[in-house]
Amino acid sequence: MSSGYSMSNRVLFATAAGLLLLTCCDLSTQVYKEGKSIYERQCSSCHGNNQEGFGKLYPSLTDASKFSVPFEKIPCLIRLGSGAVNPEDRLIAMPAFPELTEVEITNVLNFLNSVHWKLPAFHLKHTSQWLLQCTAPQK
Ligand code: HEC
Repeated sequence: MSSGYSMSNRVLFATAAGLLLLTCCDLSTQVYKEGKSIYERQCSSCHGNNQEGFGKLYPSLTDASKFSVPFEKIPCLIRLGSGAVNPEDRLIAMPAFPELTEVEITNVLNFLNSVHWKLPAFHLKHTSQWLLQCTAPQK
């Protein structure tokens, strides 16, 4: 075996391992399952079993392009309730979920994303950054 061959083999291996890592940690079965069970326990009563929402009371979560808030505000909306994020008058506000951890919020977003939005996976570091900005003044 020439050294050239084993070198490119090593590069190939490193790339494959990198891909494996991405697949594993972006949308592992565990992340998906945890997000799904949080959704079923805490969100489905209003947003529906298939995220279809309920009339004008509870928005559907299937089409992210129709959301009234950008993604960066969704973790704050979940943690603090919609009143903290969306000052507009609403028929009904979304309650706060202060007990959900950053990991749980990320997992529920990744669950919804995997079913509907098909965007690149959400990362914990983004959720953490976005949550730090919750108290920033509204514009
Ligand atoms: C008691 C009912 C209720 C529950 C439970 C609830 N929501 Fe909501 N949710 C709402 C309402 C009402 C709004 C609209 C609030 C607004 O836009 O001011 C909303 C808005 C949202 C939005 C923004 C949608 C948009 O169009 O702007 C997202 C995302 C969302 N909810 C996710 C969740 C998640 C995830 C959970 C579970 C952790 C959850 N909701 C639990 C009632 C609920």
